[in-house]
Amino acid sequence: MAPIYARITGTGSALPERVLTNADLEQFVDTSDEWIQSRTGIRQRHVAVEGQTTGDFAFLAAQRALEAAGVKASELDLIVLGTTTPDIIFPSTACLVQHRLGANGCAAFDVNAACSGFVYALGIADKFIRSGQSKKVLVIGAETLTRMVDWSERETCVLFGDGAGAVVLEASSEPGIYATCLHADGGYKELLWNPVGVSVGFRDEPNHGVRINMSGREVFKVAVKTLDALVEETLKAAGMEASQLDWLIPHQANLRIIEATAKRLNMPMEQVIVTVDKHANTSAGSVPLALDYAVRSGKVQRGQNLLLEAFGGGFTWASALLRY
Ligand code: UT7
Repeated sequence: MAPIYARITGTGSALPERVLTNADLEQFVDTSDEWIQSRTGIRQRHVAVEGQTTGDFAFLAAQRALEAAGVKASELDLIVLGTTTPDIIFPSTACLVQHRLGANGCAAFDVNAACSGFVYALGIADKFIRSGQSKKVLVIGAETLTRMVDWSERETCVLFGDGAGAVVLEASSEPGIYATCLHADGGYKELLWNPVGVSVGFRDEPNHGVRINMSGREVFKVAVKTLDALVEETLKAAGMEASQLDWLIPHQANLRIIEATAKRLNMPMEQVIVTVDKHANTSAGSVPLALDYAVRSGKVQRGQNLLLEAFGGGFTWASALLRY
């Protein structure tokens, strides 16, 4: 029997209208545009205003992806949504988006793998399609990460932004996703976390203790090393050489991390999609936002090989190698 591949047939994304530049941040926190750009590559980020939620951006991104694919919401048989900032505790944001789209009845669930959430969701969706269980799947990465930002903490507040991206995956005899690799190591949980919640309890602190805690330098070191190994593993799983890749579409946390991965792959930066300057780190939103930008700007073309990768809290790390 011919193999079934999961093929991306449409992409979409959505960002809050409000833009916060590095110069804006200089007004209320002890930082500088020079520091932020030289350490991270970030120039600005989009920030949700009060009342805008993760589900709002996920819904818009999903609508755009469905339109690009020419697929009706009612045809979907699965929605997988990566997020670490769901609208409410339950139902899942995937269920909320499903109802707004009018896709009622299909399976829908969230995946919490922090910044790796979208690539995890893509890996799961790929398995549903390969197994024959699903034919048309909506995969979303969406966040309002700035809801967890302490705007007085310069070590973290300059790094994050909000937004969402989505893809429609369809079963096809043409490739498709060749390989996905998903990993986690909870032993590193304290280097990047938000340790409050329903079961542990919230704190008598501003925003109930909901804020990102990150040991930036340590995360940086592990991320570079782990991503090096991940891209090697992914090429091997797909039976490919780095020279066969057309584009690297990395998680957009820090330009220096992105450059290190590109160097490892021997890829010039002209073959790397960079949106961290405009979007900052949107966690699970970052890879699908970058992918949609790459598609709509005409950089990525049908038939090209793309390597997607992400690294984040958990730690989690994940990749997908696919033909677009
Ligand atoms: O998406 C999930 C994964 N997350 C990541 O991948 C993030 C990984 N880490 C990073 O991207 C980088 O470590 C950071 C951008 C967070 C920090 O860059 P760094 O080059 O590792 O800087 P550092 O933390 O070593 O800090 C260097 C200096 C410190 O001052 P001293 O101790 O040298 O005097 C900080 O206090 O920079 C200072 N600093 C700042 N200065 C101006 C820290 N934050 C700021 C700031 N503005 N916003």
